[in-house]
Amino acid sequence: MAKVTFLGHAAVLVAGSATTVVIDPFLTDNPQAAVGPEAINPDLVVVTHAHGDHWGDTLTLAQKGALVVSTYEIAVYAEKHGAKAFAMNIGGSYEFAGGQLKFYPAWHSSSFPDGSYGGMPMGVVLELDGKKIYHAGDTALFSDMKMIGDLGLDLAILPIGDTFTMGPDDALAALELLRPKQVLPIHYNTFPVIEQDGAAFVARAAAMGVGGKALDPGEAIEL
Ligand code: NI
Ligand code: MN
Repeated sequence: MAKVTFLGHAAVLVAGSATTVVIDPFLTDNPQAAVGPEAINPDLVVVTHAHGDHWGDTLTLAQKGALVVSTYEIAVYAEKHGAKAFAMNIGGSYEFAGGQLKFYPAWHSSSFPDGSYGGMPMGVVLELDGKKIYHAGDTALFSDMKMIGDLGLDLAILPIGDTFTMGPDDALAALELLRPKQVLPIHYNTFPVIEQDGAAFVARAAAMGVGGKALDPGEAIEL
């Protein structure tokens, strides 16, 4: 069983029986954040790209003992700042207790708040306790999502905020390619420029036969 807790914006905590993974832990300075970095103790921090609203509290969580798993560029940056990191790139997979993860492309950009280059932006498929979860990162719609859908996804975590990523219409088109059992909309309502109606989005997804819920920050679903 995998428990997926939405922490706000693009931050998601995925807890399996042996390993807990946080993806894109932007908590401090996130007006939506359910908790601060002191409240979670992940084994792995997966960072899809270096933008501040994804990199977030990565170093704080690394100081508490988490391993940073990301692009080569983000891993090197994290190590320079005292973190323990594992450097990867798109297409690579990494095994951990109770599962594995694999990085996929995302159509976006990736630079740190200080302007350093973060490598290519990525999405990630997490396989934990037999459940397959795709976190798209920040991305536009792209047709290769069909190949990710061929994996047989239990959950797709998709940005719907528009402006910086897909908006709701493109995220619905993404669902046709991904064909997950459930969808979790993220990356909306954190700031005025990405305001969207999450409940309306999941209602449109349900009409396509995809389940899911627009979780409030702090809410969880079990797969
Ligand atoms: Ni971004
Ligand atoms: Mn973002």
